Amino acid sequence: MLAAEDLAQYRYPLYRTSNYPRLRYMGSKYRVVPYLAHVLSDIPFDTALDAFSGSGVVGYALKEMGKQVTTNDFLNWPATVARAIIENPGVTLTMDDVETILSPTVDGRDFIRRTFTGLYFPDEDHAFLDSAWSHIDQLPVYKRDIAIAALCLAAARKQPRGVFTVTSFRYDDGRRQLRMSLRDLFLEAVAEYNAAVFDNGRDNRALCQDVMTLDPYGYDLVYFDPPYAPPSDDADYIKRYHFLEGLSVYWRGLTIMEDTKTKKITKRYTPFAYKTRVRQALRELFSRFRKSTIVLSYSTNSVPDEHELYEILKGEKAEVEVYSVPHTYTFGTHEAAERRRVSELIFVAR
Ligand SMILES: C[S@@+](CC[C@H](N)C(=O)[O-])C[C@H]1O[C@@H](n2cnc3c(N)ncnc32)[C@H](O)[C@@H]1O
Repeated sequence: MLAAEDLAQYRYPLYRTSNYPRLRYMGSKYRVVPYLAHVLSDIPFDTALDAFSGSGVVGYALKEMGKQVTTNDFLNWPATVARAIIENPGVTLTMDDVETILSPTVDGRDFIRRTFTGLYFPDEDHAFLDSAWSHIDQLPVYKRDIAIAALCLAAARKQPRGVFTVTSFRYDDGRRQLRMSLRDLFLEAVAEYNAAVFDNGRDNRALCQDVMTLDPYGYDLVYFDPPYAPPSDDADYIKRYHFLEGLSVYWRGLTIMEDTKTKKITKRYTPFAYKTRVRQALRELFSRFRKSTIVLSYSTNSVPDEHELYEILKGEKAEVEVYSVPHTYTFGTHEAAERRRVSELIFVAR
């Protein structure tokens, strides 16, 4: 195994990735990207799949490297972010588009105001989200995706710790965003997403499917960053981000669990988050994508441990290398304080 120090000497030129609109996303690899980019620079490949894209930062870095990128996430919010800045070949929101989104509602819809009164945000913020959505429904693809991604980023930034598990402000971390209107936060987020849009001359795509239903062929390299199955705790993205997932589709087709205080939507099952299912799921995943070079991010406090994971990969691939990178989680829970001492691994299997 290569030690962190061996990798630390390399510098990945973080031109755009350093400006990537920053989402506090559980398990995001912002800090790992430089190491990952170095590991990837030694591997010949042209087409790549980021199969669990989350915040989208890895897919975005691959796009920056000039690769033909396909991203995938089974949640709509991450898939919308990926469409906005990875699939999107250069469309931005103009001042006119933004003025339209900020103008009075076209249809008087009030689902968000009615449903979330007294939770998360003041009424005027909820009214802004309803009204903005009445215009977003009229926008063409990519403009629509940037607008939705910006609404979600605005809402995430105004929520303490960026998660929607509690409805009262348990603490105020002093960030100015907590005191700004969602409208103003939206304007900032649009500027950030617009600045992040670029064309790498390739035909990039953002998918929204269960990873096990993807066509596994046609990728030189696949990057897997599944949710970790921690020894305790859970890796439930819906529990934390239900409001953003709902907002990304205006709750259409989603079921709100009315008996929950947080008004969350129903959980999305994934075998990767469960200690009892994760081994079988990883075996199946590696087998399905065995024709591609497999690059996998994994954390040393997950189940299965790195030795078992190595053996599972060895079952499909002739050569498996493991790199260790220093990693600090951005997720500020008590459990995450434990995880900060844990290292992040990159497996490369060919
Ligand atoms: C650890 S996060 C990925 C983080 C990402 N690499 C980043 O840097 O932000 C795992 C992601 O996998 C997605 N996911 C979980 N199970 C999935 C499945 N069965 N199919 C597709 N996506 C899944 C989750 O929605 C989550 O966004």
